[in-house]
This record gives sequence, C-alpha cells and structure tokens, in this order.
Amino acid sequence: MLIFNKLSELRQWRKELALQGKSLAFVPTMGNLHEGHIKLVEEAHNYADVVITSIFVNPMQFGKNEDLDAYPRTFEADCDKLKAANNHAVFYPNAKEVYPNGLDAQTYVEVPDTAHSLCGEATQRPGHFRGVSTVVAKLFNLVQPDVAVFGEKDYQQLRLIKTMVSDLNMPIEIIGVETVREESGLAKSSRNGYLTAAEKSLAPALNQALLLIKQSVLDGIARIDTLKKLATEFLNEAGLKTDYILVRDAHTLAPLTKETTEVVILGAAYLGKARLIDNISFKRETN
Ligand code: PAF
Repeated sequence: MLIFNKLSELRQWRKELALQGKSLAFVPTMGNLHEGHIKLVEEAHNYADVVITSIFVNPMQFGKNEDLDAYPRTFEADCDKLKAANNHAVFYPNAKEVYPNGLDAQTYVEVPDTAHSLCGEATQRPGHFRGVSTVVAKLFNLVQPDVAVFGEKDYQQLRLIKTMVSDLNMPIEIIGVETVREESGLAKSSRNGYLTAAEKSLAPALNQALLLIKQSVLDGIARIDTLKKLATEFLNEAGLKTDYILVRDAHTLAPLTKETTEVVILGAAYLGKARLIDNISFKRETN
C-alpha cells in the first residue's frame, strides 16, 4: 500500500493513474478506523480500479472547545486495516501541508442551509460544516477522484457534500453507505472510543429513541413536538443529554409537511466525554 505525505507525491501518482486510464475511488477519513470506514473502502472497490483513503484530522472542522488534540490518532493500526481491505493508497498529510498559510488565511467553501442548520447551528458547533466542505473540496482537488464514498451516519455531511459537488460542478460521483452498527444498535463511530464500558451500555438509547419516533410517525402520530419531548425524556432517563432530535424531510431537511414521503430522524446526544450522532430514514405513506 502506498503512503503519500506530500501533495506533490499524490499529484504525481494521480497523473500516472490517469495516463494508465485507471479510475479512482476516494474515501476521506480522519483515521481511527473502524468497521464503518472499512465498509466504505469495500464499497469503493465496486466503483473504480483503484481506491485511495485519506487520513487527516482536519483542524478546521473542530470548534475551540472540541476534541482536536484528544482525537485518537492510530495510524499504524489504521494502515493494517486498510491493507486487509485491499486499499491501494493512503494520503496522510500534516496540517502544514494542507493549510500552509494557517486556518485564518484559508479560502473557504460554505454550502448554504446545511452549514447553519442542525449540527452547525442548533448545536454548539458553529463553523463545523464550513470546515468539512473546505477540506473535502481541497481533498477532491488534490485526489481528483471519479467517485467518493461517505457514511450515511453523518447524514448532514453527506447532504452537504452532494450539494457542494453539484453547485460547484465537480465531476465526482458521491456514494452514501449505510451505517454500520453494533449488535446493540449503537452506530459505529470513532468517538465511541471515549465511552467507558458502563456508558457503552447506555449509548444504544440514542438509536432506540430514534426508532421510537419512527414507529410513532408510521403510526400516524403527527405531533412532532410531543414526539421530540418523549424522545428527549427517554434519553435523559437513560443518562444521555440531548443535543437535538429532529424529524425532517429526508431530501430537503426541511420540517415535515403532509406531502413528505421520505423522513429522516436525526439525533445528537452527549454521554460522558462523547457526543454521539445517529439518524434513521424511512418512507411513509401520505393520505
Ligand atoms: O467524516 C469525516 O471523517 C470527516 O468529516 C471528513 C469527511 C473526512 C472531513 O474531514
């Protein structure tokens, strides 16, 4: 497996691939890889001749009081997992390589709507999505993939990337891959590593709360506020602190209307040192 630290090495390799007529699929990550990431790599193999994964803990998407320094860095173990998944190349730059002039001087990409909603604004994470869209745009320009693969667990992120690619006419197909879960229903996440054993047994409550709402929506209970209140109480009782619970149109992320046929329920909650997020989407009949 090839490892590139420098932009120049990556660019050279990309040129050679193009000359060989090979297609390229890209899996952007921040490392600390788990089965969810490996599923993205496996999926990527279905779309192109060659698969490259990036490992870069992007400082631009972390808020001031967030876990940038504490974010787990497990490069050796990540490479072992990637090799086992037949990943061909890893782009592993440092922050100076990606942001040579620092974060404040960096041109940024901001996708309207998503940048300010849900995880961006309803929570304490202003600037998070600007950091994501900017780094992904930079990575896309460097890697020049034909296809890029993202997890559906970060539902808003996936939507944001699709919008950015469409708005900026980037010739890249974006693939979303279903969330990988523990048997308990807990969505796999690098941040689950922050949970103690006791907290890990409480954490599936987030998924259970979303499933409760799903059932009620399917049963025709239309009072979204009541459902959110119930889910919040359920989470609080389980020992989680609700950040948000939202029931939205799966395509637009706008509040539900009578016509909405595809629904997404998104939730975020704090547990110990971790902030967990999850979502479920489903179709419903309209009258
Ligand atoms: O989902 C992630 O791990 C990150 O947000 C991403 C897409 C790699 C950008 O830093």
